[in-house]
Amino acid sequence: MEGKSDNWLIPINIPLIGEEEKSEVMKVLESGLLTTASPEGGEYIRKFQTAAESFLNVKHALAVNSGTSALYAALLALDIKAGDEVLLPSFTFLATANAVLLTGAKPVFVDIERNHYTIDSEDLEKKVTSRSRAIIPVHLYGHPAYMDRISEAAQKHDLHIIEDAAQSLGAAYKGHQTGTLSDIGCFSLYPSKVITSGEGGFVTTNDDTLAEKLKMVRNHGIVHGYDSTILGTNLRMPEMEAAVASVQMSKLPSFLKARRKNAGILTERLSGLSGVTPPSEDEDCSSNWYLYTVILAENRDNVQEYLTSHEVGAAVYYNPAVHRVPLYVEKGFGEVSLPNTDWASQHVLSLPIHPRVSEGDLEVIASTLKKALSSGASM
Ligand SMILES: Cc1ncc(COP(=O)(O)O)c(C=O)c1O
Repeated sequence: MEGKSDNWLIPINIPLIGEEEKSEVMKVLESGLLTTASPEGGEYIRKFQTAAESFLNVKHALAVNSGTSALYAALLALDIKAGDEVLLPSFTFLATANAVLLTGAKPVFVDIERNHYTIDSEDLEKKVTSRSRAIIPVHLYGHPAYMDRISEAAQKHDLHIIEDAAQSLGAAYKGHQTGTLSDIGCFSLYPSKVITSGEGGFVTTNDDTLAEKLKMVRNHGIVHGYDSTILGTNLRMPEMEAAVASVQMSKLPSFLKARRKNAGILTERLSGLSGVTPPSEDEDCSSNWYLYTVILAENRDNVQEYLTSHEVGAAVYYNPAVHRVPLYVEKGFGEVSLPNTDWASQHVLSLPIHPRVSEGDLEVIASTLKKALSSGASM
């Protein structure tokens, strides 16, 4: 998903694993307790969940084995099924839409706002039907979606909200953490994300009944023995991953601080550069700066090629948008009109600002981008 990160001079994102993670993993291996099928999870699962609950100020955080599993679990727990429609942006990673298809429900693609590439509530209103059951806003690049407007639409039409917070751990909307502003939040711990467990993810909710359902869904519907009354599957996170995730959780505040600092420096370096619009934060929003995504007025692909040929891990998220991916075109989704989504697909470019990026690296990124713009790349 993130490209050949090992070989870059400055990769777009890279996991930061230290001795602490290694020693915790060794403890798990030595204990022999690699996983548990109990509904509450093992020692490290519980440790990680408590840390996530406290950081996010949410009642329940439940570990699962990927961000995709988090989305799938959320949809199953809300009983989304064939015949239902789920509203979501097409400008996202495939997982958001695939989770909907996996339940048998129909994804209904909604356009994005141009400011921060998150779901557009006006287009959302137009796409609600009598079959609509849920909205999945995506806090893309780590910038919160406009949750007030989305919640208003959800209330009006009696829809659930599942936040795709895969990219936004640590981002906040009006002082509240993303992933805690709706029925269920879904997070990813994939290695490119702000913290990682290898593969991994978790769901969050303030609703006790939904939390119990989510625990069942991640474990074949089981509460005791073989007493399943609802459909679930094996979405459990292993203890080794939870051990890594617990340590990473403790490092999250320092990682976020470094990302914010790097974003500020890069914006200064790029200021006044013609043809490049740096990202910004809205008044009510605090980004976690997972991705620093600029808009290039023209020649995005050439500029990206110039940067990558100079070992700067510039990346495009996402081109094609989901509705233009062959599987979705084959299913007939290619016809939907999403002008802002198509525009963003052609103009966005993400640049590295992760905690390993030094001030010197930021100089290299800015100067290489300037050279790209003044060279053949801009023709
Ligand atoms: C927006 C979005 N949703 C969902 C996912 C799925 O997460 P995972 O890769 O952990 O399954 C990702 C991760 O790449 C993502 O970026």
